[in-house]
Amino acid sequence: MVKTVLKWSDELSVGVTALDDDHKKLFEILEQLFVASFAGVGAEQIDQTLQELHHYTKHHFAREERVMETHEYPSLEPHKFQHQKLIRQLDEIETRIKGEAENSSEPSNDLIDFLREWLIGHIQEHDHEYATFLKEQGIEDPPIPAGTGHDG
Ligand SMILES: [Fe+2]
Ligand SMILES: [Fe+2]
Repeated sequence: MVKTVLKWSDELSVGVTALDDDHKKLFEILEQLFVASFAGVGAEQIDQTLQELHHYTKHHFAREERVMETHEYPSLEPHKFQHQKLIRQLDEIETRIKGEAENSSEPSNDLIDFLREWLIGHIQEHDHEYATFLKEQGIEDPPIPAGTGHDG
């Protein structure tokens, strides 16, 4: 029986439509990884999906950091630190999966569970802190400030 790895709910909203959309997209990529692990699609596909997760995560973090920066969120630095930690963990997972690819082409349930907690935990704990801050400041659904070009 295949369960759904992640389900979006309005409780997860951070009150910024573009960032909610990013989070939904990250959920989708994780779902793909989950489905791929059941379908036994092979190491190459898994690796590609992990790379997509990696790429989109970086893109999302950059966008989120620009919103926090623009609105002078006081906990920007600790939040950035959390983002860097998550990227490092993703790096480690990618390296590990690559190393294991010859023996096993499927990410373990442990890995999927870890990534689910990794994403939902961060949204619920850290992203919701800036959501509360924006709300308190009366900032409603702000746009994403333009970036430097390479991070979207
Ligand atoms: Fe975040
Ligand atoms: Fe986020």
